[in-house]
Amino acid sequence: MLASELRRKYIEFFKRYGHAEIKSAPLVPENDPTCLFTTAGMHPLVPYLLGEKHPAGKRLTDVQKCLRTGDIDEVGDPFHLTFFEMLGNWSLGDYFKEEAIAMSYEFLTKELGFKPEQIKVTCFEGDENAPRDTQAAEIWMRHGIPEKNICFLGKEDNWWGPAGETGPCGPDTEMFVPLDRPDCGPNCGPSCGCGKWVEIWNNVFMQYNKTAEGKFIPLEKPNVDTGMGVERVTAFMQGVSSAYETELFRGIFAKIQELANNPEANSGNRSARIVAEHMRAATFLIADGVKPSNVDQGYVLRRLIRRAVREARKLGITDMFTAKIADVVIAEYREFYPELAANADVIREELCREEDQFAKTLENGTREFAKLIEKFPPQLENKVISGRKAFSLYETYGFPLELTQEMAAERGFKVDEKGFQEEYAKHQEQSRAGAMQKFKGGLADHSEKTAALHTATHLLHKALRVVLNYDAAQSGSNITAERLRFDFTYDQKMTPEQIAQVEALVNEQIKRDLPVVCEEVSLEEAKRRGAIGLFESKYGEKVKLYTIGDFSMEICGGPHATHTGALGHFRIVKEESSSRGVRRIKAVLE
Ligand code: ALA
Repeated sequence: MLASELRRKYIEFFKRYGHAEIKSAPLVPENDPTCLFTTAGMHPLVPYLLGEKHPAGKRLTDVQKCLRTGDIDEVGDPFHLTFFEMLGNWSLGDYFKEEAIAMSYEFLTKELGFKPEQIKVTCFEGDENAPRDTQAAEIWMRHGIPEKNICFLGKEDNWWGPAGETGPCGPDTEMFVPLDRPDCGPNCGPSCGCGKWVEIWNNVFMQYNKTAEGKFIPLEKPNVDTGMGVERVTAFMQGVSSAYETELFRGIFAKIQELANNPEANSGNRSARIVAEHMRAATFLIADGVKPSNVDQGYVLRRLIRRAVREARKLGITDMFTAKIADVVIAEYREFYPELAANADVIREELCREEDQFAKTLENGTREFAKLIEKFPPQLENKVISGRKAFSLYETYGFPLELTQEMAAERGFKVDEKGFQEEYAKHQEQSRAGAMQKFKGGLADHSEKTAALHTATHLLHKALRVVLNYDAAQSGSNITAERLRFDFTYDQKMTPEQIAQVEALVNEQIKRDLPVVCEEVSLEEAKRRGAIGLFESKYGEKVKLYTIGDFSMEICGGPHATHTGALGHFRIVKEESSSRGVRRIKAVLE
């Protein structure tokens, strides 16, 4: 079964059961400041899982583009991918366990052709948050899954979500099918760890909303959220042992082999896999508007491209290659994801620029790295590259920290990561001090206290947008050493709940101790990256872009705190009308 057939079968099946097909959302979440990327099909549906009405109805199905960075270092082995496609079906307060399991059972046995004895399932064993899910187990048995094929596991295995730090979550039931090889022993199953049982589908019974305080509040109406990995199931159905051996990657490896002029650069080769996987992810990211940079999504994209460039060198590819591989990715996926062809020029351009920039310094940086390594006596144990050296590789040669760490690990070295972060912060301070000479912001008082209030203003601005679900536009800001005052366009009085939510969201960011990073970029670049831009005409060509972790990105003159942890506790003291259609908030840091 080809991936295209699997997608079609899945969507058609759920359409027959009254589900509306929706489009894949972009890889960058639109309304979730707690996550850099869309990591699951449910992610763009969070508001609806929390009770909002979805325009397409209560039963939805789709194929969602996803990106997970947690396993990025494992890419190259048979199973780990950063980018993948997830099939899913959702009940928004409509059907629950009974029908969800019935449909999963039918799809697995009738559409994919598995026999009931071939399927093992796991259910939630219960804890203080939710009871043991004997109901799910009974439903599975009623359909024909033998009792011995059902096991109960705890929260680490059978609980899913939230996708970010807060949001909908609940116990799940997962479905496993066996690879064609003998059992590892009498207890061989989903939890034995031998790898024979492959998880192919997950049904989450979303009944809770996890709050910022870590409480699980029952949802008014329970939902179903499911996820099936396209690459994994395709590989399984084709009887091959990894996604790299399916048709999804065939053209990409052919191209890599051709470019490397090396028959060994095939789907079994680790470097070739990294090049293939990272270039596929990078192509999709750029199509969704991400550009290489030193922060957030852009930094991940930069890491993917630079890691691919380095691995390509190992295969013998020395010429510019990234755009050529992107062309194959575009051709492979263009039918299902028209945004790839629509953005083909930008994809090629961004890749070429990044590759060119990095290729220029890679060789010198690698030489510098080798020199560094040689200085250590070979017999020394615990060889650690200092933060200063790692930072110099970053600054001078554009080596992302993770790349230096990887190169170090290949030779049994470690990198002083904390030292690197310290150097990084120091550098930010210096460039900010320099920038301050050039850009005298609108603030007279540059004390720590006003800097902290200024940072709090950015957090407030973003929090208002999230909570009011509206592009609350700043219409004025005034900061004294005691308080901040923020005016924004909004035509209603905020409710006490909204005010509390805004406070909580800001305090959450303070608790996360996010770094505040300043960059000087062109206004176009800032806009392209989705920065909130204000008072644009005051600035010249270049603007200062302040990024607060993954939460806020705003054009501003500064100055700011270096970390949100320095802010203390944020409290709104007043919310009132300032003029027609404009609200005014006064807030303090305590
Ligand atoms: N959201 C669930 C998952 O990602 C279905 O496994």
